[in-house]
Amino acid sequence: MRRLHRLRASAAHRELFSEARLSPAQLCLPLFVHERDDAVPIEALAGVSRWPVAQIAAQAKQARALGIRSVLVFGVPEAKSAGGTSAADPDGPAARAIKEIKDEVGDDLVVLADTCMCSYTDTGHCAIFKPSGTIDLSATLDALARAALTQAEAGADFVAPSDMMDGHVAAIRAALDQGGCGDTGIISYAAKYASAFYGPFREAAASAPTHGDRRGYQIDPGSRTQALASIQRDLEDGADAVIVKPGLPCLDVLSAASSRFDVPVWAYQVSGEYAMLKSGVIDERQATLESLTALHRGGAGVTITYAAMDVAAWLNDSR
Ligand code: PBG
Repeated sequence: MRRLHRLRASAAHRELFSEARLSPAQLCLPLFVHERDDAVPIEALAGVSRWPVAQIAAQAKQARALGIRSVLVFGVPEAKSAGGTSAADPDGPAARAIKEIKDEVGDDLVVLADTCMCSYTDTGHCAIFKPSGTIDLSATLDALARAALTQAEAGADFVAPSDMMDGHVAAIRAALDQGGCGDTGIISYAAKYASAFYGPFREAAASAPTHGDRRGYQIDPGSRTQALASIQRDLEDGADAVIVKPGLPCLDVLSAASSRFDVPVWAYQVSGEYAMLKSGVIDERQATLESLTALHRGGAGVTITYAAMDVAAWLNDSR
């Protein structure tokens, strides 16, 4: 009989034979920025706040001090409209925050900008609609491309389109190249499912749809082939890396994507997953570390998580 217990005999054995060790550099911290002057805690996401632009660099520095190497900026604007035009406002909270962070931490942190319309449209949808009520794809791609160029000009290292519109990466790549931002990369949320686990985020980003849902453009949880096809298409169109989302419900997709494609594959541990870890009914620290280790074991190179600062501190503690 093969006695596998021999590999687990002590903490030293377990660490020695672990194949998925977490480090703070594998965590990406989401940061919400709004136009108010004060920080406002997000009720649905314990421990997460919307920050004013003036305080955002301090958050980024704190993350860096803990060993985190990337942040993902979400703008939460006051102005919403049918065309979501404030997404391309160089004076909007996202662009100003990106600039602040880059001015303060420079190349010490990789800054990603979430590129989507849902915080900027009056419908709360990731797309712009025709009067008939169907998605106006070319207007949406134009708006996304303008938003991405604004974020790149503000200094984002990568734009991260989370809209799930067909052709988004090609449209954004072309706009960045024509706009003189050829060095700005694209980390596409290519495999983004229509998930109930995004619930708490919609409060954070004030992006709940006013009608219908996102099932017409995000991937149905029953399909894996669509996720892989979406990743392949986005890579052909110029994505530098891809995100699988939500995290734990998509371990199979993460595993398939990381073995099939020779690009970095990231996971997003989304708001609902985070809320469950924070629920108080399981051990938060153990369960969070276990989830992140599982995502990493499943193929995630980096995981985007609201717990990034806590986890980095725990990892640093245990060294
Ligand atoms: C914007 C966006 C969403 C998330 C990241 N970017 C919400 C959505 O698609 O409804 C979800 C993040 C989370 O739940 O933590 N399109």
